Order: sequence, then structure tokens, then C-alpha cells
Amino acid sequence: MIKKFRIGKPFDTKAVTAEIQEEKISAFPLELSQEERCVVAFELRGEDMIFGLGETVRGINKRGWIYESWCSDETEHTEDKRSLYGAHNFIVVSSKDKKFGLFVDFPGKVEWDLGYSNPDKAKITIDGNNVDFYYIEGETERDIVKQFRQIIGKSYIPPFWAFGYQQSCWGYSKQSDFISVRDNHRANNLPLDCIYMDIDYMDKFKDFTVNEELFPDFKSFVSDMKAHDIHLLPIIDAGVKKEQGYSVYDEGHKKGYFCKNPDGTDFECGVWPGIVGLPDFLNKDAREWFGSQYKTLIDMGVDGFWNDMNEPALFYSTKGLDKAWEKLDKLSGREIGIWDYFGMRDTFARLQNSMDDYSSFYHNVDGELVCHKDVHNLYGAFMTNAAGEYFEREYGREKLLIFSRASYIGAHRTSGIWFGDNYSWWEHILLNLKMLPSVNMCGFLYCGADLGGFNNNVTGDLLLRWLALGVFTPLMRNHRALGTRAQEAYQFDNTQDFADVLAVRYRLIPYIYNTFRRCADENDMMFRPLAFDYPEDKLALEVEDQLMLGEECMIAPVYEQNKSGRVVYLPEPMTFVKLSGENITSTKLSEGIHYVEVKLNEVPLFIKQNKKIPLAMPALNTAGLDMENLDYIS
Ligand code: GLC
Repeated sequence: MIKKFRIGKPFDTKAVTAEIQEEKISAFPLELSQEERCVVAFELRGEDMIFGLGETVRGINKRGWIYESWCSDETEHTEDKRSLYGAHNFIVVSSKDKKFGLFVDFPGKVEWDLGYSNPDKAKITIDGNNVDFYYIEGETERDIVKQFRQIIGKSYIPPFWAFGYQQSCWGYSKQSDFISVRDNHRANNLPLDCIYMDIDYMDKFKDFTVNEELFPDFKSFVSDMKAHDIHLLPIIDAGVKKEQGYSVYDEGHKKGYFCKNPDGTDFECGVWPGIVGLPDFLNKDAREWFGSQYKTLIDMGVDGFWNDMNEPALFYSTKGLDKAWEKLDKLSGREIGIWDYFGMRDTFARLQNSMDDYSSFYHNVDGELVCHKDVHNLYGAFMTNAAGEYFEREYGREKLLIFSRASYIGAHRTSGIWFGDNYSWWEHILLNLKMLPSVNMCGFLYCGADLGGFNNNVTGDLLLRWLALGVFTPLMRNHRALGTRAQEAYQFDNTQDFADVLAVRYRLIPYIYNTFRRCADENDMMFRPLAFDYPEDKLALEVEDQLMLGEECMIAPVYEQNKSGRVVYLPEPMTFVKLSGENITSTKLSEGIHYVEVKLNEVPLFIKQNKKIPLAMPALNTAGLDMENLDYIS
């Protein structure tokens, strides 16, 4: 049962697609104060748990920390942070006697104090007083999620090949880099479906351009890679380089499609290309215009994209930089104290993603000027919708792959997401796992983290363990930052171990793909906390490092250094399966706590009683997968 409550005149976020009758606000079932900022509060009792909030730090059970919905270009996903790239305002509160879901449909900042200031109280502060609340009651957490997913519309389904293994690296720049990645995978019997093109493929980081020196005949290159069953996936950044003579900039500027300063001039800031204009994705015409720009690359044979820097990430604004120089000028030549020095250092550090800047530029929404700060969380989502809607209209459903870094609920209908710039840290394998059910709750099914870690230097064992989790995530991409240690599967002496793990992905694609489709169809979650499936089981309620997958199984990856296995909790008897290349070993395990050994080249999986999983024969790409002749394990 869903109830909608409206306060004031909320901005149309396009998150909810269903028509729902409004209830009287006096019937709102939680504590509510409607001052300048709306505040919702409710008691938290002993065993109450809170799930949701999509892409955030910390546990599957979110209780005990303070989070902020504020799409952030946050490079360090550590526990002290409050926000990451997505703003996913949906929670499910689970008490013994009552379970409810709450969606706060609001495009600005929302603070979720879930027992941080007061352990017995949840307090949600909305940075404004025009907001829609959706309050959902249901028998189970999963049922509440399904009801919510029903009102926000069906999840995006990518093309089939997007379920293959994908390799990425910020730093592949010339044609020969891509060919060598392709050939090295093939030579080492490592499957691969897709190679990513990071910003270096562009001409001076200009969206929708290709560096002609590096790619003299891009169209033939794309088609040659496709003939080898490799899809190329270029990145598109939100900011459009300010350069006279660059048609995208010229047109955007002329038509007034960039975000504006109060005086009507374009707001300008610095990102990878230097000074950029930020397309006004909240302006319908600008959105359509930007969406249609992807055609340039699609016409060259490209069939997928990843949208980046769309929180939007600002390294600095020209206004901010001017002020910073002024400050510096005042200190220049003087003998400065240590506080002056720290102040000077911070002046520059604080230029990045500054609230002053977010509060200073405007969108044109149907002729009305709207301050960016008030709709910040929609920017990346609307950028990706611009692309996704254009793709669907022009090319049909399931034809192009698209996923985004920033998101808001609603973007799940047109795209997937990835979890941004993580680190090659063991704890980020676990964080990757914890985010999966929370983002599924918000409709994002096509998702995954940078396997192996983006920042920092990887080690072979970490990558293998991470891939053994990635085998199950719909987006399975190995990506790293410029200047970090190479982490393609063939870079390590024990390449066969990598081939063994990657082969398992292809063996499991029939299962993963069908489970994905079913979940998209039925508004279900692919990954669930154990608490959702075993609500009466005290131990299961607290498990934070295992997940239920589909109706059939449970996953429990090894995520610690120098471990030859792990402790796992089975809420019911299951078959413990280890998959490695074509090899399968299976052991029946009783309900309870077990220690299971898992070698680096093995993928552990736990199958429930009376359930079976289809397995294809390994293949080197999705085009070569035989989806008909399947074996089953149970
Ligand atoms: C951002 C992205 C990362 C990409 C880099 C360069 O940090 O999150 O994936 O490699 O920009 O484009």
C-alpha cells in the first residue's frame, strides 16, 4: 500500500511514473515539521534496521551513521564520508512489528541522520519545503521494494553483450593500445567483450570528437574491433569545452543551452578540457540537443557510452579561481604565518565542487530560472536520461549500452550506474558487495564497481578475489586510473588463474542474464541482504558480507588479504560450489557456520536446496556463447 503526501509545489524530478492520489498531510504517519526545511523523524527501537540509500558508504544496515543525498565527485570512499555519486532517497525501515518504505522525492540536499545524533531516532532533513513523500507499507522488505519499484517504472536493460567481461583503463590512448589489449586477452585465452575509451580518445577532451592523429580512420577501427567481437565504449563528460569553432560549444552557447550566471552569461568552470560550459540538462531543449550529439559517434559504429563528471564535478569555477588569485596576491611577497599558509593551501583545495559555485548558477526550466543548488541531484540523471531517451527513440530498446556516474532515482529507467573511483583496497571489495542490494532497491540493476580498484596499485590476489565477486555483477568491468599499476588479467604470471575465473563469468551468463531480465520485468532485486529472506533468523539479520542472488543462491566472496578461505553463515542447508574454468566441485553443507576454503582461481557459490543453476560452456565472448546447450548444477 502506497501513500503519497505532498508539501508545497515540488519540482518535477521525473522519478515516479505512476499516478498516485495525494493524501491529506495531516495523515502523514511519521513525525513531520514543515518549517523552512521539512524534517521527518521516527523512533528507532532496539532491533530496528534501515536498508537503502543506494550508493553510499558503510553497511547494508544503514543505521548509526549520517548520510547526505548530494551527488558528489568523491574520490575517497571512506567511512567518514556522507555522500558518493548518487542521490537515492529511498529507505526501508524494518521493525519486528512494522515495516515501511519511505521515498523522499526532492532534488536538493537531504540529510539522513539515522541514529547518529541520537541512537534512538531517525531524523531526515530536507533542504527545502517543496517535497513529495511516498510512504509504503508491506509484509516484507522485498514486497515494499517491489511496490516502490512499480511506481518508479521498469529498470533499464542493456544489450546482451554488456554482460560480457570488459576492460578499461584511463590511459589507453592510441589505436595500438586497444589492439594490444584485445590481442593479449585472446592470446592468453582470456574472454573479453568490450574495451573502454577514456578521455584520451577525444580531441583535447572535447565531447563527441575523436583525436584524428591517434585514430586516422575511427570508423574502420570501430568496425575492425567489432569484427573481432570487441565493442568500444567511449566516455562522455558533462562539461563542453569552451572553444570557438568547436561546433558543440558554439551551438550550445548560441542557443543558450549552458547553465547561466545571474547576469545571463554562461557559468564557466574548469574540468578536464580546461574551461567548459555546463549543458543545462534541466532545460528540455538543451537535453534533447545534447542527447542527439551522441549520434556523431553512433554513426561511426559505437554502440555504448559511459557518462562521467556529471554530479557535476567542478575542479574550479572561473569566478572562484579569480577570488583565489586575489587572495594569493595579497599574501605574495609578505612574510606569512602558518595559518596564512594553511589558508592559502585550502583556498585552492576548496575550489573543487564548492557549494558557493553550486549556489551561483542557474537552470532554465520552462522559462523559469532555478538555482542549481536546489536541483543539484538531478543533473547527472538528466544528462543520462538525455542520452538514454534519445537512444530508445532513435535506435530502440536494448540496443545501446549506457551507464552513468551520477544518478537520481528515475535514471534507472534509461541507464545503469557504476560506483565511481574506488581504490585497490581489500575493504572496497566488501563495499562493492554492500552497495549492490541498496542500489537494486532503487531500480539500478545494471551496475558494478571498478574491479581491481580505480586508484592505487593493485595486486594479483586482490584482483582475482574482486573478479570472483564481479563474476556476479551485471556490469563486470576492470578499470584503473592513469599512472596506477597495470591490471589487465594478462599482466600477472598466474594468467591461467585469471582465465579460470573469467571463464566462470561466461559459464554463468545464462543465469545472470535471465535473473537480471526477470528482476527488471518483475521489479525485483537481483541481490538481497540475507535479512530480507530470513527475517526470523537472528544471525542472518546481521550478515554484512554475503548476499542472496536471485531465487537460487547466495554469494560470499573472499575479501581479505592472505586468506585461503572464509567463514560463511548458511541460514539453511546449501550446496557449496566452487567453479574454476570448466571445473566444478560441490559439497553439501548443513545450516550454520562453516569455514570454506577457496583458492584464488575459484569462484564460490552457494545453491539453495531444490534449486539449480544453468551453466554454459566457457566462451571467449558473448557472441560465442552457446545459450542452448546448458548443464545444470544443484
Ligand atoms: C573520473 C572517472 C574515471 C575516469 C576519469 C578520467 O575520475 O570516474 O572513471 O577514468 O575520470 O576520465
